[in-house]
Amino acid sequence: METAQSKISFTINGKKVERRVRSSMLLIDFIRNELKLKGTKPGCLGGECGACTVLVDGVAVNSCLYLVINVDGKSVTTVEGLSGEEQSLDVVQLSMVEHGAVQCGFCTPGMVMAIKSFKSQCDHNHHTPDREEIKKNLEGNICRCTGYVKIIDAVEALF
Ligand code: FES
Ligand code: FES
Repeated sequence: METAQSKISFTINGKKVERRVRSSMLLIDFIRNELKLKGTKPGCLGGECGACTVLVDGVAVNSCLYLVINVDGKSVTTVEGLSGEEQSLDVVQLSMVEHGAVQCGFCTPGMVMAIKSFKSQCDHNHHTPDREEIKKNLEGNICRCTGYVKIIDAVEALF
């Protein structure tokens, strides 16, 4: 039986992509296997851990639950889009490093993308979150090394 395909066009990390894709293909598989961007991590693949978090039009989504056809016409940012050869680390990444908030690093790309989304929402609303709000907003991102205190310190320092 032939698999249904759709043509999609979107930008990822500022570059335009046009492809025919299987309608059932997940965004994480497209990012990692088709585009070979391996920064987005496959963890639980069930929407529980946040390791696969990317931004779609600036909002954090779990790419393991998101069909790639749904990014048609949109803008996707992965962790690779935050820094490049001539660009230093993003402010969130720098804060994570400065606060010792990275251990094995597996959760870090997803954590960084979730923090980016949270920070831009707060900035948009001219809001400075307290630690409880920061914790609440990161509860979808699990760190198996359990470095939460330092991660929250790193987020708090952004405001
Ligand atoms: S891999 Fe997507 S939420 Fe865990
Ligand atoms: S740093 Fe190891 S999973 Fe978070």
